[in-house]
Amino acid sequence: MSYLTEYNKSIASPEVFWAEKAEALEWFKKPEQILSKDENGVDRWFADGELNTAYLALDYHVKNGRAGQVALYYDSPVTASKQQYTYKELLDQVARFAGVLKRHGVGKGDRVVIYMPMVPEAVVAMLACARLGAVHSVVFGGFAAHELAVRIDDAKAKVVVTASCGVEIQKIIPYKPLLDQAVELSAHKPQKCIIFQRPQVTAEMISGRDLDWNEEMAAAEPADCAAVKATDPLYILYTSGTTGRPKGVVRDNGGHAVALKYSMKAIYDMNPGEVFWAASDVGWVVGHSYIVYGPLLAGLSTVLYEGKPVKTPDAGAFWRVVQEYGVKALFAAPTALRAIKKADPESECLKPYDLSSLKTIYMAGERLDPPTYHWVRDLLGLPVVDHWWQTETGWAICSNLMGIEPKQAKAGSVTMPVPGYNVRILDSEGNEVGPNEQGAVAIKLPLPPSCLPTIWGDFERFRSGYLSAFPGYYVSGDGGYKDEDGYVFIMGRTDDVINVAGHRLSTGEMEGVVASHAAVAECAVIGVNDPLKGQMPVGLMLLKDGVEIDEGQLQAELVRMVRQEIGAIACFKKAIVVKRLPKTRSGKILRKILRQIAAGEQYTIPSTIDDPASLPEIYDIMSDHGLIAE
Ligand code: COA
Ligand code: AMP
Repeated sequence: MSYLTEYNKSIASPEVFWAEKAEALEWFKKPEQILSKDENGVDRWFADGELNTAYLALDYHVKNGRAGQVALYYDSPVTASKQQYTYKELLDQVARFAGVLKRHGVGKGDRVVIYMPMVPEAVVAMLACARLGAVHSVVFGGFAAHELAVRIDDAKAKVVVTASCGVEIQKIIPYKPLLDQAVELSAHKPQKCIIFQRPQVTAEMISGRDLDWNEEMAAAEPADCAAVKATDPLYILYTSGTTGRPKGVVRDNGGHAVALKYSMKAIYDMNPGEVFWAASDVGWVVGHSYIVYGPLLAGLSTVLYEGKPVKTPDAGAFWRVVQEYGVKALFAAPTALRAIKKADPESECLKPYDLSSLKTIYMAGERLDPPTYHWVRDLLGLPVVDHWWQTETGWAICSNLMGIEPKQAKAGSVTMPVPGYNVRILDSEGNEVGPNEQGAVAIKLPLPPSCLPTIWGDFERFRSGYLSAFPGYYVSGDGGYKDEDGYVFIMGRTDDVINVAGHRLSTGEMEGVVASHAAVAECAVIGVNDPLKGQMPVGLMLLKDGVEIDEGQLQAELVRMVRQEIGAIACFKKAIVVKRLPKTRSGKILRKILRQIAAGEQYTIPSTIDDPASLPEIYDIMSDHGLIAE
């Protein structure tokens, strides 16, 4: 099939196109209304359809001959354990845990926060929520108590599910004290907390509130699937925006299931029974879509890997997993491959492994820089597909469509728009620019199935953040261009979101923490280039008049505060005292110019600048600290 035929059809006749793709699912009630508007005027897919995502991910396969096929391989070098679950076994676990949740009052529409490491129980908990029509919100284990509290509050979680600890290489991270602290901080109190006790740490239980996973499972009755509307939420996933407050991206059930099932073949060229491995974390959107839902909806075997690309135990870890499970497609962040390259430049750790099962490597989460692209391609001699997406969409916006018509890749490009995404590059007036001209990467409405219909509890934030800049378009927040062949290049964020080791973080949130230090009058946190992690945050601080503090001590205190408030994952390690920050006459810090200086880009000095001499000064400071990209 030709890419252009498929793509053009999706844009010219989206309803016909997606109605056909929806046929691939066993609906409880088949949708007749393919595209309609909701009360906010937002396009919604399959509004009158009814289904259950967990049914499609598990029961459907058990009924259709896959009961004995492995659904999930769990591989945990950090705990030296491995387990596998067939579709039937996973279904039994999920139905039972749904019974546990049900017994504690969780039903359709109730929110359940899942704060867990990469253990099968995290997947079981997610699917159990889906089974009941409850809405899960998974919080990445690297976030600190305050971040967890913000999410518990915003989602008004009825129940929180956690484990006694996570394991970071050799470091044991007890989760329960973080949960207890979060519940103390949150205004909304969950009714119950269910704790999965791991052998490495036994969490202390709070009587009346905390329940033991194993005891509950032993006593539970399996629960049935609830029929939900296609437009009912399946999950909320909080992601970093430009303000200090994370935003709850809402994912619906119907559009999500249709898009993900379609993507498994169209993008990833996967067929039922094959093994797919997304080396991500269930706390991120990649984990939601391509560790859990996508592979299971498509009847694949998925790998849940609790380890790192390096140090668990060495840079051959990924290659071992590929060989051991016969992985056909590996999906990872470029930073993971850069870590492997750094630890094993001669690729000695690759040599013992047979990678004949592996057909394609997929990359996302951050820009795949051409040197890393070439290194991976030459190392493995396989197609390397850079594809671009966001938490907001839940699946790729641009990719090489390996199951439709693989194109010749271009280093630095995410190839072409995925069917359903009408991708346009706009100038500041909202006009389309020509080939090779950079602009805002936008998607002409309607967005395809799976994309967010709102921010949880705050439609206005969705409207103003994504839909209002250019009427009729969704604005991605990324800048980029299309070349003369229509290949799309994503060059980076145009806002205050940064990408550190494939993790999306808000500099605004870090600024909030830094500014709360007693010595700091004002600050800007910007992302600077980093050869391993892509970007790293750096704080530029103006001190309050009369404050005298050792810069090293201040930095250490700020690092501790950011770890405490946001989490180790923020990787905030550097803070520099400056005498002036470039500002407008109305006192707004010119963050965009700071970003441009760090990126080594040309910038225009705005006429509204208050103190033009601050710019060369800040340039020199950043240059002295080696913060300017070459
Ligand atoms: N729970 C608790 N802490 C966590 C955590 C988790 N789930 N994940 C990371 N952290 C901690 C780390 O231990 C580290 O702590 P430290 O400062 O005390 O050492 C800190 O957060 C920073 O972690 P990270 O940025 O991941 O650095 P690292 O040096 O541990 O690992 C990489 C570097 C490149 C190997 C790792 O970042 C990686 O594999 N990245 C890929 C990310 C990815 O897959 N993203 C999904 C998008 S597809
Ligand atoms: P997240 O929502 O965490 O998946 O982060 C989404 C952001 O990561 C995007 O808006 C981009 O800035 C960046 N991103 C993801 N994938 C790519 C890619 N393949 N190329 C460039 N940037 C990417």
